[in-house]
Amino acid sequence: MPLPPRMKLLAAQVVPHRPRADLGLHGDPVLRQLMTIMVQHFRLRHIVETGTHLGNTAFFFARQFPELTIWTCEINKTFYRASRNRLRGIRNVRIFNLDSESFLRQILPGLGEGRLYWLDAHWYEDVPLLMELAVIDEDNRPGVVVIDDFFVPNQPQFGFDDYGDGHRIDRAYIRTYVESRRPWLLLPKYGVREPRIKAQLRGHAILLQNIPDPLMVAFSHDQSVERSYTIEAPGRQ
Ligand SMILES: C[S@@+](CC[C@H](N)C(=O)[O-])C[C@H]1O[C@@H](n2cnc3c(N)ncnc32)[C@H](O)[C@@H]1O
Repeated sequence: MPLPPRMKLLAAQVVPHRPRADLGLHGDPVLRQLMTIMVQHFRLRHIVETGTHLGNTAFFFARQFPELTIWTCEINKTFYRASRNRLRGIRNVRIFNLDSESFLRQILPGLGEGRLYWLDAHWYEDVPLLMELAVIDEDNRPGVVVIDDFFVPNQPQFGFDDYGDGHRIDRAYIRTYVESRRPWLLLPKYGVREPRIKAQLRGHAILLQNIPDPLMVAFSHDQSVERSYTIEAPGRQ
């Protein structure tokens, strides 16, 4: 796939450097804290990222959660090579130069339970998100699915992606998955008068599927989760 010249330049400039953990997860402290809570509460073992780009979020995850394995894929060879070089020596990261569907089909059957998916491979006209959700759905295991760049209604502080022609990353777009899987759904509501926020916020949706009710209820009553997220139980969607 041809790369726009501006991106080639960017990739070439960053190849020799270390990845930037501070840029991982958009540098968003509330989202980072939620990830830590979820890793502990749901005893997560694997983080599965689609769209490595330059490896900043993979690096953040790898450092923050050294006991977890971070699986990540990148379709673009230039970005793949750049992130592979940047993440060399980080022992708990596995990078694949694959499109996200092939990647998920290849690795999911071999992974044990305790997975968190960070779905972030939307960038080009061909948006793979629905296919990614379909593969995760077929696999039918408990898991935490986080979709980046998601449109959050009534929260204009959160940026989102819209690829036109019905491809806005939003609730309507993922309706089929939500109707079939009936996950718990969290959407962020923080950022206004939040002193920790320095970076530009990006919207995200958190879908929790096949997780035992008592565990979900305890999670939904965690004070910092309640304060920062709107939480919908299945059946209210
Ligand atoms: C927004 S960037 C990812 C940022 C990264 N997850 C982070 O948080 O640092 C999106 C990346 O997804 C890649 N991508 C786009 N479509 C893809 C696909 N179908 N499969 C795998 N990667 C894809 C792009 O080349 C780009 O590097």
